[in-house]
Amino acid sequence: MTIKVRVNTLISRNRYDAAISTGGLEDLGAFVLNCLGGAKRRVAILTNRTIAPIYSEPAAKSLRAKGFNVFQFILPDGEKHKNLRSLSHFLDYLGENEFQRTDAVISLGGGVIGDIAGFAAAIYLRGIPYIQVPTTLLSMIDSSVGGKTGINTGFGKNLLGAFHQPSGVFIDPSVLKTLHQREITAGLCEAVKQAILSGGKLFQITSDLLESIDPKNFADFLTTNSKIDQVERFIAAQIRFKASIVRADERERAADYTSKSRKILNFGHTFAHALEKVTQFQYLRHGEAVGHGMLFAADLSKRLEMLDNHSVKLLNDVVHRCGPLPPIAHIAPEAILQALKYDKKNLDGKLQWVLLEGIGKPKIFPGTVIPASVLTSTIKAALRK
Ligand SMILES: NC(=O)c1ccc[n+]([C@@H]2O[C@H](COP(=O)([O-])OP(=O)(O)OC[C@H]3O[C@@H](n4cnc5c(N)ncnc54)[C@H](O)[C@@H]3O)[C@@H](O)[C@H]2O)c1
Repeated sequence: MTIKVRVNTLISRNRYDAAISTGGLEDLGAFVLNCLGGAKRRVAILTNRTIAPIYSEPAAKSLRAKGFNVFQFILPDGEKHKNLRSLSHFLDYLGENEFQRTDAVISLGGGVIGDIAGFAAAIYLRGIPYIQVPTTLLSMIDSSVGGKTGINTGFGKNLLGAFHQPSGVFIDPSVLKTLHQREITAGLCEAVKQAILSGGKLFQITSDLLESIDPKNFADFLTTNSKIDQVERFIAAQIRFKASIVRADERERAADYTSKSRKILNFGHTFAHALEKVTQFQYLRHGEAVGHGMLFAADLSKRLEMLDNHSVKLLNDVVHRCGPLPPIAHIAPEAILQALKYDKKNLDGKLQWVLLEGIGKPKIFPGTVIPASVLTSTIKAALRK
C-alpha cells in the first residue's frame, strides 16, 4: 500500500507529496520522475558511508530504470560533518558535473544528509529541485518535511541555512530495519513530541503504536504485514501534523508566540539543548535529549500549576515507552543553568519555554516569567531521576 500526504505551503506556494510505501525503494525512480514533471535528467544522490553500501544501489537502479543519469556523492557519517566543508565539496561536485537548473539533488539519509542536500539545492544556481528520501524515523516524521535546510558552524547548530521546500518526499519504512535501536528511540521521542503538541487523534495513533511495539525489536515489528500498515499510518499522521504547522507558519515568524507558531516544535528542546551542550553533543542522541526535555517541561508546567497530574502521568508513560533514555544524574544543575544562558533561542536575550496547559495545548513563555527558584528546583528534580 502507498499512502500519500499532500504538503501545501502558503508563502513559497509549493505543493508536494510525501509518499509512504514499505519496500518501495524500487519505485523511487517513478516517484522522482513524477515529482520532476516527467523530465529525465541528471540526479545527484547525496548520502553517507553508512547508508551507501546498503541503499544506494537499489535507489540508483530504480532511478536509472526510469532514464535518469545518476551521480552519487558520499559524505562521512555524523553530525560533525554537517558543515561548510561538506557543503562546499558537494557544491563543487555538482559544478564539476555540470548540473543545470533542470537537474535535481536526492538526499538519501537521515536529517544530517537531508539538511545538507536541501541547503545545497537551495543555493546551487540560486535553487534547484531536490527530493528527500529519509532513512531514519526522525527524518521520516519530521526533518524531511517543511523545507528547513542548513548546516552547523563553529558558533552553533543550523546557523547557516535556507528555507527550500523539496519537490517530494519518498519514505520506505523497511529501511528502518537497519537503524540502530537508539536512533529508533530518538525518532519515537520526536514523534511523541508532535503527538503531545497535537493531542487528539495523533496522540492516540502514537500511543497505540507505542503500546504495540518493543523499540528494541523494531526490525521484527516491520516484518508483519498488519504491523507495517500501522507503522505507515503512524508516519502519515505524523507528517500531516508537521505539514499543518508548516502551512500555518512556513518561515517561523519571529514575533509570533501563539500556538500556531512553528516555535511550538521546540517543546522539550530548551532543556534538551542544555543537556546536549553540557555533554559536548557526544553522550545523547538529540531525540533522547528531547525525551528528557519533555519530562522536564511537563514537570515545570505542573510546578507552575498549568498541568494536572493525570496529564503529567500520561506524558511520562508515552515518553518511557519510546525506549531507555541514557541517565543524566551525573550532570551538575549549575552546568545546566549556565548552558541555558547560552541557548540559541537566548541569542536575542529572550530564553523561551514551550510549556503545556494540557495534552494538545502548548503555550510559549519567555524565560523571564519563570521564577528562578522554580526553574532551579525543577532542574534539580530532573537530574535526580
Ligand atoms: N530540517 C529540519 O526541519 C530538521 C528537523 C529536525 C532535525 N533536523 C536535523 O536532523 C539531524 C538529525 O537527524 P537524524 O536523527 O536522522 O540523524 P542522522 O542523520 O545523523 O542519522 C543517525 C544515524 O543513523 C544512520 N542511518 C540513517 N539511516 C539509516 C538506516 N536506514 N540504517 C542504518 N543506519 C542509518 C546515519 O548514518 C547516522 O549514523 C540534525 O542535524 C538536526 O539538526 C532537521
